[in-house]
Amino acid sequence: KKTLKDLDVKGKKVLVRVDFNVPIKDGVITNDNRITAAIPTLKYILENGGKVIAFSHLGKVKEEADKASKTLAPVAKRLEELLGKPVKFVPETRGAALESAVAELKDGEILMFENTRFEDLDGKKESKNDPELGKYWASLGDVFVNDAFGTAHRAHASNVGIASNIKESAVGFLVEKEIKFIGGAVDNPERPLVAILGGAKVSDKIGVIENLLDKADKVIIGGGMMFTFLKAEGKNTGSSLLEADKVELAASLIKKAKEKNVELLLPIDTVVAKEFKNDTEFKTVSVDAIEDGWMGLDIGEASIKLFSDALVGAKTVVWNGPMGVFEMENFAKGTIGVCKAIAELSEAKTIIGGGDSAAAAIQLGFADKFSHISTGGGASLEYLEGKVLPGVDAISNK
Ligand code: 3PG
Repeated sequence: KKTLKDLDVKGKKVLVRVDFNVPIKDGVITNDNRITAAIPTLKYILENGGKVIAFSHLGKVKEEADKASKTLAPVAKRLEELLGKPVKFVPETRGAALESAVAELKDGEILMFENTRFEDLDGKKESKNDPELGKYWASLGDVFVNDAFGTAHRAHASNVGIASNIKESAVGFLVEKEIKFIGGAVDNPERPLVAILGGAKVSDKIGVIENLLDKADKVIIGGGMMFTFLKAEGKNTGSSLLEADKVELAASLIKKAKEKNVELLLPIDTVVAKEFKNDTEFKTVSVDAIEDGWMGLDIGEASIKLFSDALVGAKTVVWNGPMGVFEMENFAKGTIGVCKAIAELSEAKTIIGGGDSAAAAIQLGFADKFSHISTGGGASLEYLEGKVLPGVDAISNK
């Protein structure tokens, strides 16, 4: 694929799709990682004399009333602070005001227009990749740069639509980095490759587990989904989260791992609780001794040790999904322990596949200790599943 450095941006109107779908509470951005992550691309274009037209979606826009809370205005403000230069915010997604703002842009200046999903109010034009909309947005610029990794699993008008209607396009530095690290880990890893997968549900991770059983040397499983695997091994899981209809699938994944000579590690102990809340009675028990009336909400100390030991010597580590209910303090130790163990590996490429585990690592102050923390949630999952990402696929080839 073409990358930003392959483009001549000087004096050009450069359309830049970013993923600024950031959490906002009462008008305040609570996590600006996705904005920070796009800065290198934006700076490069501006410093090289391009005129930047930046845009993103924000949340889902289903009715007129959603607009007030889904405006990108606070994001444009934050972007302005991070770039240290004015960002002209145009509160439109099309029309004369936007077109004249684009026409007035000088080399090295940037504007940002409103949430692309405002176009969803009129027949889901953005989300359904309406051909006229992609064409219209493409007509506003000379070249297109897609740096929205978090949205790359969607074929929307603001990524695929524009790419298909413009002469030249490229991936930005963030997308390039995501591909290098996540793609590199899955397709061409330095071995041993160890994958640590958590999260509540097996059903969300089936594709990832299947793909990684083909690629990794070891697969470690924790999080709520561990109980479906433990059930498949004939254990009692008490009132822990269980996907009864996935027990057979879990059994077949355990079998597949054996056939492929992939070491599949499951927790050996768990922190069980009386109720699904932080302030409740809890204790650590062996996975062979989960009693009825108790639910497992984290992996135990022995499992943290088992998993940490299994990581030693790894050359590539991919982590996706928390080990327990880490938003509750009493059940956060597993996730913290595993996060620390990965962060301490100095010889390995360490990659966090986005979402909750990325949030956990950042919250714990370990962000700098990882080789790469993905900005994608759904996109990194699909990438780890081995799927083609339409947002990347649509970009010009070299
Ligand atoms: C994400 O946060 O995963 C991306 O921004 C995509 O958002 P979506 O799931 O609303 O399409």
